[in-house]
Amino acid sequence: KRILVIHGPNLNMLGKREPEHYGSQSLGAIDRSIKDRARELGVEVSAFQSNHEGELVEAIQAAVGQIDGLIINPAAFTHTSVAIRDAVLLLDVPVVEVHLSNIHKREPFRHHSYIADVATAQITGLGPAGYIYALEALAEMIA
Ligand code: DQA
Repeated sequence: KRILVIHGPNLNMLGKREPEHYGSQSLGAIDRSIKDRARELGVEVSAFQSNHEGELVEAIQAAVGQIDGLIINPAAFTHTSVAIRDAVLLLDVPVVEVHLSNIHKREPFRHHSYIADVATAQITGLGPAGYIYALEALAEMIA
């Protein structure tokens, strides 16, 4: 079983970026812990980060028919991108939206997600562990 993890803009700066919201772990460290857990669960994980909306759309398009589940943190594009939402709708596999911070506790413009109602579930506010919970849930759903 194959799971794709997609990270949106500015998540490449994790560790240095607003640690009060996003913690001190780097994206590399988060991806390593996702892959370690994936190995234990017997699923294959690949991870992709981009700061460009079109590249994120293309990564989702390229995954159509190739993956069994998607974990996506669209970052700022969560709140703006109909294009990423439409790309997610191309997939017929479970999708878990993840946010490190609790978007509902923050500025009002972060409360709306264009992805939430086309995703299977949303995990928000649990930090990097949210990706692990998303992976565990997907692994069980697609077993
Ligand atoms: C985020 C929340 C978004 O509002 C923000 O733009 C991000 C990260 C999170 O993981 O908490 O870049 O998706």
